[in-house]
Parts: sequence; structure tokens; C-alpha cells
Amino acid sequence: MQTKSSKQKSNTQAGDNSLLKEFFAEELKDIYWAEKHITKALPKMQKAATSEELVACFEEHLEQTKTHVERLEQVFELLGKKPQAKKCDAIEGITMEAESVIEDTEAGTSTRDVGLILSAQKVEHYEIATYGGLAQLATTLGLDDIAEILQQTLEEEKQTDQKLTGAAENNINYEAATEEEA
Ligand SMILES: [Fe+2]
Ligand SMILES: [Fe+2]
Repeated sequence: MQTKSSKQKSNTQAGDNSLLKEFFAEELKDIYWAEKHITKALPKMQKAATSEELVACFEEHLEQTKTHVERLEQVFELLGKKPQAKKCDAIEGITMEAESVIEDTEAGTSTRDVGLILSAQKVEHYEIATYGGLAQLATTLGLDDIAEILQQTLEEEKQTDQKLTGAAENNINYEAATEEEA
């Protein structure tokens, strides 16, 4: 019992320079780079999409993503650190895949939309994993205000993922299934 309570104490009172807190700050730099990169990728995906529902989904998520960047800046501020970005290889790779989808498919086809949805969902799932983990870490570090901010973004990423699934299920996958090679 005593061991448990002292363990809890150290969890919620992690020192300012704890290794875990440093690790947390490093991971924030990664997702900060990723979010900024996504604000550049989404307009390209929006331009390449055909379905109105998908175009609207990208448009809306671009605005949300700009807020995600701002929220991370707020988090850095709460940590007393300057916002700093560190290249996220995973997001660079996924957005490069989205660019090849655009290159490899014909404009105006649902097949391209299917590919764009697949790429966009890979981005969202990366973000969901990252924000889920970081929000949990923030709680462990006793940084409840930061955990709450990260949780807000996490919810928007989840909603976007569901909207993308909805767009695919409503029409796009069905239409793509009827498309034939020219
Ligand atoms: Fe985001
Ligand atoms: Fe997102």
C-alpha cells in the first residue's frame, strides 16, 4: 500500500527535468512538424478530390488542422518552451504516398477518391495514435491542462476518420467499383 502511494506521488509530481517530460517535449516537436506538414498536404488532396462530400471533408479538416497547430503552440507555451518542429518521417512518408495516389490515378475518378481517403485515413490514424499516447503521458506527468488540449484534438481526428469512412461507404467505394480502365 505504501509502495503504491509513493509511486502515485512520483507520477503526479514529475520534476521539471524528468526524462519522461523531456521525452514528451521531444514527441511534441514531431507532431508539431506533422501538423504543419498536413496543412500543406490537405489543399493538394482537396484539389485532387472529386466527390463533394470528400472535398468538404478535406476543407473542414484543413481549418481544424490549423487549430491543431495553434493548440500545440499553446502546449509548448504551457511547458515554458518555444514551439519547435522536428521532422516527422512517418507523416512525410504517408503524404508522399498520397501524392503518388494522385499521380497514379485519373482526375475526376472515384478510384482516385478511394485512394485519397485511404491516404487521409492513414494520416488520421497516425494522429490518433500520437495524440492518444501524448494525452495519456500528459496525465501521467500531472499536466492536466495540456492533457485536455491534446484530448480536444484527438476527438477531432477521430471524427474526421469517421467522416472519411462515411464518405467511402456512402458512395465513393461503390462508384469506384463500377469504374473501368479507359
Ligand atoms: Fe491534426
Ligand atoms: Fe487530422
